[in-house]
Amino acid sequence: MKPVIYITRKLPEEAIEPLLEKYTVRMWESASESVPRDVLLKEVVDADALWSVLADRIDEEVFEAATKLKVVSNLAVGFNNIDIDVAKEKGIIVTNTPDVLTETTADLAFALILATARRITEAENELRKGNWKSWSVMDFTGMDVGGSTLGIIGMGRIGEAAARRAKGFNMRVLYQNRTRKVEAEEEHGFEYAELDTLLKESDIILIFAPLTPETENMIGENELAKMKKTAILVNVARGGIVNEEALYHALKNGTIWAAGLDVFEVEPVPMDNPLLTLPNVTVLPHIGSASIRTRHAMMKMNLQAIIDVLEGKEPENRVV
Ligand code: NAP
Ligand code: GLV
Repeated sequence: MKPVIYITRKLPEEAIEPLLEKYTVRMWESASESVPRDVLLKEVVDADALWSVLADRIDEEVFEAATKLKVVSNLAVGFNNIDIDVAKEKGIIVTNTPDVLTETTADLAFALILATARRITEAENELRKGNWKSWSVMDFTGMDVGGSTLGIIGMGRIGEAAARRAKGFNMRVLYQNRTRKVEAEEEHGFEYAELDTLLKESDIILIFAPLTPETENMIGENELAKMKKTAILVNVARGGIVNEEALYHALKNGTIWAAGLDVFEVEPVPMDNPLLTLPNVTVLPHIGSASIRTRHAMMKMNLQAIIDVLEGKEPENRVV
């Protein structure tokens, strides 16, 4: 019997084609809607490999149902959607997709920084509504990005790629990480800062730490209160790192100036999320790595990891 691979999203034909000869491949029917929980729990029962996306919760219940599972290959670099401890306990390999999405996601972070600082979405919406009556001196005036101070929380692969872009904008870069990046400090002049200093001195704060028990709600009322009144908070990491209720009040009350969000505590973001009512928030539907080339590179990486594990080889990009 051929080993079974279950894929939780409809992927392009060419992405799965190399699997079709040697494996039985089953795939959820939708490209844009999550596989229902009951379907996932049924499909994993005889699966040797699970190809998941970041919207799937791969927890103990899934691992318990999946008695033959050898590998979970997650189409994302973040793996907070997977219960890593249970996977480890059961000897199931988990892989992710680092590096290939680093530059693309750093680009998106900069797009969001610029869009938020320069009120791009707000201005475009007014134009489309027919509200452009004449050139105005002070309408849609924003904040300068060039020459300002960028504070990066989570100076890993993507954090560093964003920091390199900031140098092109002549920005001062402060960063916060558990490990100091001495080489990057020496090479590019990035400055390590304690969180308090970074919050107080940055004009723009960019989050690129993973969502872990330590980073969950890391930015709440107290942290927002330490930021400049003119500060912009940009989160392209995970929604759970920022307390959204505190952020809403900070934006509404002028504690900080604006926010750019690619990620939310609950995704897809519910349409009654109060943040969506604020003009000083620029929102995106979690598209950090969404370029055609990068998404294909990510799929290739997932595919190779599955083949490697099913052929008894050690996969690259093993998380556990
Ligand atoms: P990475 O290389 O592992 O970088 C994460 C960095 O965060 C590391 O340098 C880590 O260093 C630091 N960190 C961990 N815990 C921290 C803490 N408590 N305080 C401060 N820093 C902490 O990962 P990456 O490839 O850059 O990706 C980063 C995250 O971006 C992913 O986990 C994912 O959630 C998110 N992401 C989002 C999108 C999107 O589409 N929006 C796309 C790609 C990635 P230390 O452990 O030394 O502190
Ligand atoms: C996207 O959010 C990722 O973690 O790759």
